[in-house]
Amino acid sequence: MKLLSVNASTIKEIPYKGKTVTSGIFKEPVAGRVMVRRLNIDGDDQADRRVHGGFDMAVYAYPFEHYAYWRNELGRETFPYGQFGENLTVAGLCEDSVRVGDIFRVSEALLQVTQPRIPCYKLAIRMEQGPDFPARFQQSGRMGFYFRVLEEGEIGAGDPIELAESDEGSVTIAEFIRVYLHDSHDPPSLRRVLASRDLGEAWRVYLEKMLDNAETVMRPSGWEGFRTLLVDHKVPESETITSLYLTPQDGKPLPPYLPGQYLTFRLAIPGQSRPVTRTYTLSDSPNHPDYYRVSIKREPAPADRPDLPPGLSSNYLHDQVELGTGLCVKAPQGKFTLDPNDETPVVLVSGGVGLTPMISMLNTIVETGSRRPTWFIHGTRNGREHAMGRHVRRMAAENDNVHVHIAYSQPRPEDVEGRDYDSQGRVNIELLKRVLTPAAYDFYLCGPTPFMKSLYNGLLAWGIPETRVYYEFFGPASALKEGAGRPGERAVMAATALANNEHAEVSFARSGLTAKWDASFESILDFAEAQGLRPDFSCRMGICHTCMCRLIDGEVEYVIEPVDMPDPGCVLICCAQPKTQVVVVDV
Ligand SMILES: Cc1cc2nc3c(=O)[nH]c(=O)nc-3n(C[C@H](O)[C@H](O)[C@H](O)COP(=O)(O)OP(=O)(O)OC[C@H]3O[C@@H](n4cnc5c(N)ncnc54)[C@H](O)[C@@H]3O)c2cc1C
Ligand code: FES
Repeated sequence: MKLLSVNASTIKEIPYKGKTVTSGIFKEPVAGRVMVRRLNIDGDDQADRRVHGGFDMAVYAYPFEHYAYWRNELGRETFPYGQFGENLTVAGLCEDSVRVGDIFRVSEALLQVTQPRIPCYKLAIRMEQGPDFPARFQQSGRMGFYFRVLEEGEIGAGDPIELAESDEGSVTIAEFIRVYLHDSHDPPSLRRVLASRDLGEAWRVYLEKMLDNAETVMRPSGWEGFRTLLVDHKVPESETITSLYLTPQDGKPLPPYLPGQYLTFRLAIPGQSRPVTRTYTLSDSPNHPDYYRVSIKREPAPADRPDLPPGLSSNYLHDQVELGTGLCVKAPQGKFTLDPNDETPVVLVSGGVGLTPMISMLNTIVETGSRRPTWFIHGTRNGREHAMGRHVRRMAAENDNVHVHIAYSQPRPEDVEGRDYDSQGRVNIELLKRVLTPAAYDFYLCGPTPFMKSLYNGLLAWGIPETRVYYEFFGPASALKEGAGRPGERAVMAATALANNEHAEVSFARSGLTAKWDASFESILDFAEAQGLRPDFSCRMGICHTCMCRLIDGEVEYVIEPVDMPDPGCVLICCAQPKTQVVVVDV
């Protein structure tokens, strides 16, 4: 292992998109020997110490092995040492071999590995690349790592690097990056990183919050079964969307939830022979323990089938539910959530009534005083259907980290550009590219299926890592990725395979009923209904988890792949068929 180059830079002013940014990223090799100190290398400086610098990020090292990779990726002949903004260009120390807490002797200095480098947009400037480069750099896993300086001393190019101490219990930098990018919702992975030796304080705090959050999502919170909430008041948000404010009938406090989660309602709608189950997203921040709010779009009959009845629940909630009406509601659930403690820049993109989780997320960011850079991008038809427009504008006017862009597809003559909306047309990837300033964003999407599909594929084509894109469907999920099979195709395949399983038996344990499986049914839910049972359901597409129940015995196969897999030991009966001869579910 060897130190190939020591690189430094003072802070420079760089013209960028009509502005001037300051940065110390343009590092150049230093001749001779140079002092490494607790906070820095002599002659080097960092412009933004929240991102680089401090005891735990005193010296940034980048493996020379990755130079060839980037030359090839970016079609460049050569890069000088210091090209990636690193202080030390090193050979023989890569992310998959170096562990958090490892201590290395470099001549007189003793350096300890602390954490991977999370790039900012200035790396894109340095590399002469587009705004997606920081995301691409992250996704490559070739991010380099920081050292803390345990003993100060002189170092120079050519010095050997010797491992002084290593702890097998610590994760490698590669594993750290993997958990950060892909498994930040997985408690065991987070615990493994947290167990690393001498982890930097900022990361410890961040990972502990992530762990707490992940455990909260997994923990069943709230209440068992259904609870009665009373409609306290109704607020029209547009001509098509109305909010319902709900308070507990029993007077006991409402449990907290995560922004993006939803409530499941069991509605006794007059004229219906059985209760109707539907899910509606909580549309305000969780900082109001005295009420829950949902915002509901009145669903008309499809435009090409005016003869069909309009949406059952949404019209009931708009027209028949009055102040004081009691509604049966399950506790908040759902995994499409925003971590309120995360500070990653975020883009909340919605179409139509898909704005409800985004409003909850936006309100949470603002009300918790987060400085997280936030874009709220929303598309709707025109001012008639535009809900909560003034509220969102006010949030942006009062908080300089919040930015808004509203697109109307069919503005009316009375809709004013610049006041009611910002551009005419649909929300698509070109719009995002035009309005977003460079940053490594998390993207949250919710809207109609064509909107989601085009944005999802557009983001991936733009180089945004899949792991940075979160989404929720309000209607039937379809394959988002271009080229991926649609759920229907998988359904046919699975149904063919299972048709051979003629002797399977399904037992519904709670109802005390067992029946021979009939392969003409698409799902265990359909089969249960044919036996006269009435399990709860809402989407019947593996989205909402309303039908989730315990799998007591046997195995199932999914004929439609659920958008979110059920909890361990549970099954979504709306999209599952028996896989084994005996299947026992808790229905
Ligand atoms: C996780 C999740 C969160 C959600 N959050 C929200 C939210 O915050 N706000 C919100 O407004 N919605 C939300 N939804 C959607 C909501 O759950 C309902 O699906 C929506 O309100 C429509 O329900 P409905 O009972 O009014 O319509 P349905 O009765 O289910 O009808 C739906 C459509 O089918 C048409 N239809 C009726 N009969 C037929 C027929 N025979 N053939 C074909 N079509 C027919 C209706 O005219 C209507 O257009 C969410 C959904 C999910 C899964
Ligand atoms: S009914 Fe929604 S997941 Fe099964």
